Amino acid sequence: MKLKTQLKTINDKNEIIEFLAKYSIYADSWQSEKVHSNLTDPLLVYKKQIEKLKTRFNYASADVCAMTKDTFNLDTMLSAFIKEHHHTDDEVRFVVSGEGIFGINPLTELSFEIYVEAGDLLLVPAYTQHWFNLTDKKNICCIRVFKENPKWEAIYELPKRNIEVH
Ligand SMILES: [Fe+2]
Repeated sequence: MKLKTQLKTINDKNEIIEFLAKYSIYADSWQSEKVHSNLTDPLLVYKKQIEKLKTRFNYASADVCAMTKDTFNLDTMLSAFIKEHHHTDDEVRFVVSGEGIFGINPLTELSFEIYVEAGDLLLVPAYTQHWFNLTDKKNICCIRVFKENPKWEAIYELPKRNIEVH
């Protein structure tokens, strides 16, 4: 994980965690379970970590979402993510493989970018203005975690209210 503000780049994990905490964004890194190395389904490989996260933040479900340069309608799909938006649910992403960029607009301060790669977990709270893009590699596989059933519904207007979710 790497964080880029308009002024500096932060590579140190603890420094990134501390920076993000100011915006109620939670970041962590997960190791895969070596004992289950024959497992290929990310939801099984990271079962323990997912269950822990669900309990800690009161989440209900998880699924897997993957995009590559060969994904049908990738550009259309990305255009929905690239445009600044927010959700009424937290955006929780664990990167299984590949990489991506989350942009955060705190509204009262300058925007910054979080570069995520395999092993990175990011929890962007509901009502936080953000965007997402793939890197030039155009490849990511993520576990998504939700408060209710899996869904992706973006609101492109600025948030009218900030709800404390944790
Ligand atoms: Fe989003």
